[in-house]
This record gives sequence, C-alpha cells and structure tokens, in this order.
Amino acid sequence: MCGIMGYIGPKDAKEVLIDGLRRLEYRGYDSSGIAVLDGAELRIARAVGKISSLESLLGKEKISGNLGIGHTRWATHGRPSENNAHPHMVNGVAVVHNGIIENYAELKRELISKGSVFRSETDTEVISHLIDSYLSKGEDLFKAVISAIRRLEGAFAIAVVSEKEPDYFIVAKNFSPLIIGVGEGENFVASDIPALLPYTRRIITLSENEIAKISRDKTEIFDIRNGVQIKPEIKTVDMSPSVAEKEGHKHFMHKEIFEIPKVFTDTMLGRIDRENSELLPDELAVRTMDFSRIIIVACGTSYHAGLIGKYYFEQISKIPAEAEFASEFRYRNPVLKKDDLAIFISQSGETADTLGALKDVKELGIPTLAICNVMNSSIARLADNVIYTRAGIEIGVASTKAFIAQTEVLLMLSLFFASRRGTIGEEERKRLINEFSRMPGILKNTLKTESYIKEIAPRFIRSRDFIYLGRGINFPVALEGALKLKEISYIHAEGYAAGEMKHGPIALIDEDVPVLVIANRGSNLKKIISNILEAKSRGGILIGVITKGDEETKRLLDFAIEVDETDEFFQPFVNSLPLQLMAYHIADMKGTDVDQPRNLAKSVTVE
Ligand code: G6P
Repeated sequence: MCGIMGYIGPKDAKEVLIDGLRRLEYRGYDSSGIAVLDGAELRIARAVGKISSLESLLGKEKISGNLGIGHTRWATHGRPSENNAHPHMVNGVAVVHNGIIENYAELKRELISKGSVFRSETDTEVISHLIDSYLSKGEDLFKAVISAIRRLEGAFAIAVVSEKEPDYFIVAKNFSPLIIGVGEGENFVASDIPALLPYTRRIITLSENEIAKISRDKTEIFDIRNGVQIKPEIKTVDMSPSVAEKEGHKHFMHKEIFEIPKVFTDTMLGRIDRENSELLPDELAVRTMDFSRIIIVACGTSYHAGLIGKYYFEQISKIPAEAEFASEFRYRNPVLKKDDLAIFISQSGETADTLGALKDVKELGIPTLAICNVMNSSIARLADNVIYTRAGIEIGVASTKAFIAQTEVLLMLSLFFASRRGTIGEEERKRLINEFSRMPGILKNTLKTESYIKEIAPRFIRSRDFIYLGRGINFPVALEGALKLKEISYIHAEGYAAGEMKHGPIALIDEDVPVLVIANRGSNLKKIISNILEAKSRGGILIGVITKGDEETKRLLDFAIEVDETDEFFQPFVNSLPLQLMAYHIADMKGTDVDQPRNLAKSVTVE
C-alpha cells in the first residue's frame, strides 16, 4: 500500500529512486512520482500507471541531482491521477506518504480557512500545507515537520525534502513501515528491504514515533514526542539482491510457487527434531501455556491459513479455537478472557487491520503471538511472542509460499501444544513428525502437476464463474483456491463448504460453470463424492484434486489433478499447490498482470 524511496549521496538520485520504486511496485502501482533537487530547484515528475510510465516521462524531462524522494501509489483518497500522485509540493517542500491521515478533513478545512490552496484530493497534501504553515511561522524544516506530525492522526511513513535544505532530507514513521539503508557517503530510505539490497545490506528499522534527519554521511534519529535523540541500531540483513529478481521465471508468483518445497524445509529447520520425533521449543514456546482458547486474527490469505489453524488446534491440541477477520474482530467488541491466547497471522507484518486488532488485544492484557514472514515488521515487534515463517521475500501480490509456511507453523504449533498438554499419543505424534520430513519431497512431486494444469487451463480462460468445494480441513483450501483465481484472473470464484453447496451455490451450476472439488482419499471422501454427483447431474464441469491412483473418483470427473497420498492434516499443503498453479496458468493465458493484479496491493496498511 504505497512504497516510499529516498536517496542522498553521489549517485544520480533519479536512477536510484526509479530502481527502488520498481522493487517496491508490488506495494501499489496506480501512479508514481519523484522529486529531485536539481541545482537549487526541486523538480517533480509524476505519472499515472506503473513505474514504466514515470520512466518514459523521465526520458523526456532532463532531471538530475543527488538528493530525492519517490513514491509508488495505491490510491486511497482520490482516484489515480497525476494531481493525486505523490510527491506533493508546497513552496519548495515536497512530501511523499504511505498510510492514511484520519483527521485530514478537519485539517484541510482549517488550512483552507487560513488561505491554503489544495491541488489534489489526497490526505497527504494536508501534511505539505501543515509543514508550510509552520515554516511560515519561522520554524526550521525539522521543527516544522515535527509540529506538523503532532497534528496528524492515523498511520504514516513520510519523507520530506526542501529546496532550502540541500544537505539532508527527513523521514518519520508512525505505524507504516520505513527503513533506512546505510551506505558509504550515501544513505537511502525505503518502505521495504528489497529496494535497498542492490545498494546496502546495513539497515536501520525506524520505530513508531521516530523521525530521522538523513544526510550523506549521517543519520540522526529522534523521538517525535519529546525530541530525545536515539542511537540508531544498524543491522546487517542476510539477503541477496536476487531475491527481488525473477531468476528465469516469467512471474514472481511462478518463482514463489516453485520455492515452496524449500520454504517448507526452511520453516521447519531447527524446530523439529526428527531423530527423537520431538518439536523443539525455541520460539514455539509461547510464554504462557495455560490458555483455554485460541483466537486467530488475520486478513486475506493469512486468514485462510488461520482457518486451517483452527482445525489443527481443535483436532490435534484439543483447544477450542476461532479464526476471525481482523477488520470484523476489531469493531464488534469481542468477548475476550485473560486466559485466551490471541494469534495474529500476517505475511507482511504491516496489515493495518491486523496490527490494529493486535494493539486492542494487547491493551486488554491478553497474551499475543504473531506469525509473520517479514522480520522486525510492526506486528512482529508488537506481539509478546513471534514465530517467523521463513518463506523469504514474497513479491507476487497473490500470496503463495507464505500461505504454505503460515499453515506449516500452525501445524507445528498445534503439535507442540498437544505434546505439552498430553492430548496426543506418542505413536500419532511420531507419525505426524515423520510426515513433516516427507513433505518437501511430496511437494516437489506435486509441482509436476503443472504440465497437466497447463494443458487444461485454456478450457477455462473464458469462464465467468468458478466454484471451489472442500470439506473439513480442505474447506479453507477451497476458499484460498477461489481467492487466488479471483485475485489474478478476475474470474468470479466462490469457495464453499461442499456440504453447503446444496443450500445455494448449486443454483449457479450449469454446463458453463467449472466446479473444482478437493477430493483426496480420507475421512470425507464418500461425502465429497455425493457432492460431485450432485454437481455433475446439474451439468457442471468437474475438476478434482484427487489422490493418485483413485480411479473410482477419477471416473466421475472431467479433469483429475492427481496428488500424492498424505496424512489428512498435511493435505492443505499438497492441495494448495495445484490450485495456485491453476489460478496462475489461467491468469497467464488470459494475459492479466499476474504479479500486480488490478486494484490490489501486497501490503494493505490502511483500514
Ligand atoms: C493483501 C494481500 C493479500 C494478503 C492480505 C493480508 O490483501 O494482497 O495477499 O493475504 O493483504 O496480508 P498480510 O501481509 O497481513 O498477510
């Protein structure tokens, strides 16, 4: 949800900014812009559309300088247009912003009454006018930015550059992510690490309510609330710039699906002792173990992982569990108890609704645990405990490998709780732990379903609706499969609990509607077969994900994607891969923008 980039140093700022914005484009891509100090003048270039549009514009405009800020936008206030694109400049001071200023309407009214003239519909422009109003009262740039920030309510990460201050720029943060990249005689800022990797691996993560003054060879950080200077903590990130490259794949999403077997191995590394069939406590050990209920809170794909987690906690650990959309959970005053454990799942660790829910729960003194992919992200830092998924940077907007890693962590955690509470027998525990070691191989095998999926995908590129059905633990997998298809192919898809089909969706089924059924061998198969027959007798096109060698089920289907047999608790992993590949190939054949689907953003830092 918007990406910010900033640079000061000997290089051509424009080049660095464009390169960084490209790597941040997954955060928003409806318009972009840069402001570069060119001699004594701040020059702005903004364009609607992707970074390539901005690049074409810059090909015509000769802008050069060594200090600048840039932005790639996901529209919240005001449609995508050149005027609404950032940076917003007032009297030689330019601002870029990620987040939402919640009290912008009242601030705007106040500023207009004092003579400010607004040129955009954005909330960001109030920041520019506020800074200008404090500058005209005689404050210096740094003080004026602090005074402006003190008036703001909501979430923001901002970067500010002024024509009158050619030796530094300012960044500040409250709930939207911002990191500083430390170079030799040059410094950078960005919303996320991949943007910085070609330049430096030494980073400082800004915390809430921090403001930094960034010059070529110095970064000074202060607490916005009391002005006290804070010693920066520089960390070296162990990542190669290639994480942000497609490495021969056509899309990041494809690359990321093919990374899943490795991600599965990485995520269990050091957490499972295969020899002794034990789970190693390390971070799996939640500070308190005497909770009587688990509440899982998340959004989007992470919520679907949470729904699978609910099955795990109930069936393996025998702990009552609920999974909730963060955006709903926050505003319905849920009844929580001191002996609940609240788990927050987020790939990015920045999703505003999930972060907001975490804050509310923490205030009630309830123990919290985060499952995040991005190290040091806001949710990871705020929760009492964090377990990291080790999926690596996920760039495709549609989440794939992170979903698998989240589900894997939930399965490990449920086993861990079960072992500690004695709700699982020794044999069963050993069997499940053994299944963990088989998974990377099974997942590699599952990727081979791609050739068949590619063969059948052209049949569905003109479909208007799709129904995904699953039962039990595979119901959330069906929801996630449908979400993937919607997100990237723009085909309407509904995930449904197979048993509920007869209470509504069956009315949609005819010969134009493909019905994808998850029908592995297992406790639910007989019932799923009844659902297949119900759909078939209404003329639906039946696609099934089935267990290899299950000829009986295969005969009932028009298309059968065959996966290896595995324990039921592990079926979500093997079933998700073909569903992700199916969505990918249909979308790719339709020619949609797979990695950056319309209207979406990777990280939604607004409510
Ligand atoms: C956005 C992304 C989804 C993601 C959801 C939650 O909608 O497009 O892929 O599942 O946010 O994100 P999180 O980072 O909290 O997992």
